[in-house]
Amino acid sequence: MTPTIALLHGPNLNMLGRRPSQHYGTLTLPELEAQVRAWGDERGMRVGTFQTNHEGAFLEHVHGLAGAVDGAIVNPGAWTHYQYSIRDALEVMGVPFVEVHLSDVDAREDFRKVSVVRDIALATVKGKGPDGYREALDILKAELSA
Ligand code: DQA
Repeated sequence: MTPTIALLHGPNLNMLGRRPSQHYGTLTLPELEAQVRAWGDERGMRVGTFQTNHEGAFLEHVHGLAGAVDGAIVNPGAWTHYQYSIRDALEVMGVPFVEVHLSDVDAREDFRKVSVVRDIALATVKGKGPDGYREALDILKAELSA
């Protein structure tokens, strides 16, 4: 069966293309999502996408993923650094997920060095731009076929 992967983006990631390119590159979110979907196709994985700027909407979407997907790739944006409700929802989701950041969060401001989801993530990929999402798919593929 084709594994289904949720690609989840948090706040301000719909603004990709207008955010500082030295951190986030130049791809827009629809372009990034299309690229990840294509990488998923190449690997026999179906990728479904979701982005919101609203915490409650994110939580309810993640609740609905429990039992519905095999894994997830999550870039929680700034929520990464402080939002425990997002962490708890990802735990409830109950499937392996990879935390991805376009920028190298550990090489930026101190507040970005904290991640409240890192210890429950299967892996964290940061600072590799869009390629980090391809790496996340490979990590999930290896995990799901183990
Ligand atoms: C980000 C890093 C976060 O610190 C920031 O708030 C974002 C994007 C990244 O992809 O590098 O919105 O998660």
